[in-house]
Formats: sequence, structure tokens, C-alpha cells
Amino acid sequence: MKKDTDDLLMVKQTLSQFSFRRAFEQKMLYFSDGADMFLDQCVVCYENDPDLLDADVSVLKNVMAQKKNIALISLGCGDASREKMLLDLLPAAGLDYYGIDSSHIMLDRAKETLKNSHRKSELVCLDFGSSELKDWVDKTVLDYDLRIFVFFGNTFANIPQAYMADSLRMVMLPGDILWLDVTFRKGVSSLGDGKLYERYQGWLKSTKMRNFILRPLKMVGLPEKNIDLRLEMKREVSVGALKFIFYLEMKNKTEIEVLGETLTLLPEDIVNILQIRAYAPNKLLQFFEARGFEPFDEESGQCNLKKEKYIIIHRFPL
Ligand SMILES: C[S@@+](CC[C@H](N)C(=O)[O-])C[C@H]1O[C@@H](n2cnc3c(N)ncnc32)[C@H](O)[C@@H]1O
Repeated sequence: MKKDTDDLLMVKQTLSQFSFRRAFEQKMLYFSDGADMFLDQCVVCYENDPDLLDADVSVLKNVMAQKKNIALISLGCGDASREKMLLDLLPAAGLDYYGIDSSHIMLDRAKETLKNSHRKSELVCLDFGSSELKDWVDKTVLDYDLRIFVFFGNTFANIPQAYMADSLRMVMLPGDILWLDVTFRKGVSSLGDGKLYERYQGWLKSTKMRNFILRPLKMVGLPEKNIDLRLEMKREVSVGALKFIFYLEMKNKTEIEVLGETLTLLPEDIVNILQIRAYAPNKLLQFFEARGFEPFDEESGQCNLKKEKYIIIHRFPL
């Protein structure tokens, strides 16, 4: 109950800065019952794609053959069900699991997922976009031979790119691995881009998706009848991404009270809620190479885990 109150307070604090930033923090979508709303619509990707599971197992086996004492750190671990499927196929010794998430309820679900696991596992509530991440890494996982930081489920695609890449570079040690699961653009053509747009436009019509996206705002009393939920597509050239932005546009003048402040939203005022990116793989690699990361050669399994920070980018082509 206390956790719910903390989450609501954090949503209110974000909202109380609306008048300055006019943007909303996406992590709050997963607070309280948002976690279960998300999980209800999720299928673990390995269930539809056993080849991906095999490929992921072999990447980890390859790394385990080279280093004895590894920490797998999942950033935005959700209920950890994907990690459970993956890690169950690998020896428990030599590979410890750390799930990091900012949603208390997600971490409760992850605890349930991992309850019968023999692997050393720890779940941690923190914001990976804050300085808490570096403090935690320095305190908890520096003694490992190698750290693998993973963003599963397109989570990297929701957050500010250059900021997160720079802070990962700061947190990671030479030889550490960054593993990103992102949606790829299938070739870069206006036809392919149009299909992606249609896909996300479908979310605007889905009651489940609307409820999920709008829930934190409803929590603080923004009436749905006063808003339009809209979608905009933009290019983000530095990472080769198409960016889909879900935002609110006010229909009527609306005043809400948040932490003693009155927020006034006028017709056509805009509040950004969620961003999702789909990438051109080569550009995303270049974006990381410019920050001292090296590609990890999965085909040959060859990697010289010594000096550089390695990046594995996995694939969710649409
Ligand atoms: C798209 S879900 C992916 C969940 C899981 N990795 C999967 O593959 O199904 C994003 C997850 O990241 C968490 N998250 C989002 N922003 C975060 C932040 N700034 N710090 C920590 N966790 C965050 C959310 O709570 C949510 O569980």
C-alpha cells in the first residue's frame, strides 16, 4: 500500500512540473496497476521465436566460456519472464542476475517469476536514467569479471538516446557488454515507415492501449473527455530512428490540483507521454561506435573481451 502511495506521489511530482516541461516521464506508465496492464498484453518473445532463444543462449555461453564470474543486469526488467526463460537454459554458477526497474509492482511480479530459481538473483528498485545507476554499479557489481547490461523489450527505444548512451559509457567498464533489443526498420523506405506508423496508429483505437497510456494522467484527475490522444512521427537522424510520439492535446480548458498547485491546460496545449523508436541498424551501431563501443561478432562468436565496451544489438524487425 505504501508503495502505491509513493508511486502516486512521484506521478504528482512529475505533473507538478508540467507547466515547465510539458512532458511526462514514461516510466510512470508502469507504476501501480499500469504494470499489470502492460503484462496482460505481453507475450515473451521467445515463445514466438525459438531461434532467438537459441541465439541468445549461445551468446551467453560464448561469453561464459571466456569469463568466469559474470553479472547480467537487466535495465527495466519488468516481470523478468524473458530472462527466466533464457537463464533456465544456462548453468547457475558463474552468471548472477540483477533486475532493475523503477516500478515496485513490476519488481513484485519479477520476484514471483524468479521464486524457484537456483541462480543468485537480486531485484532493485531504481531509475536507470538517474545517478542512482552509477552508485549502484559501483557498490554492487564492480567485483565481477564482466557485466552485461541488457535492455530487453525495446526499452532503450523509449528514453532519451544520447543521454542514456553517455551515461552507459560512464557506468560500464572496459570489456563490459551492452545488449539492446530494439525494433528495426525493415529497410528504410517510405512504404516501410508508413506501415510502422499504421501499427502505432492502431494503438489509438485500442481501448486497452489507450487505458494503459492515459492511466497515470487519469490517476491525478485529468478527465479523458477533455483530451485527444494523438500520434506524431518524426525522424531522429543521429540514431537512424523513426520516433513515434504519443501526446495529449487538450480539447477544453482544464484545471487540476497537484500537490497544492493549480495546473491550467488550455485547448490545444500539448503534453508528451510516450516515445517509441524503430531503428536503422547501421546507424544505431555508428551512434554507439562514436562513443567507444565495438560491435560484438555473434556470427563467429569471436570477441576479444579485453579493452573495448561491446555492443550486441538484437533484432525485432517489423
Ligand atoms: C517496455 S517494458 C519492458 C519490460 C521487460 N524488459 C520486457 O522485455 O518485457 C519497460 C520496463 O522498464 C521499466 N522502466 C521504464 N523506465 C525506467 C527507468 N527510468 N528506470 C527503471 N526502470 C524503468 C518499466 O517499469 C518497465 O518494466
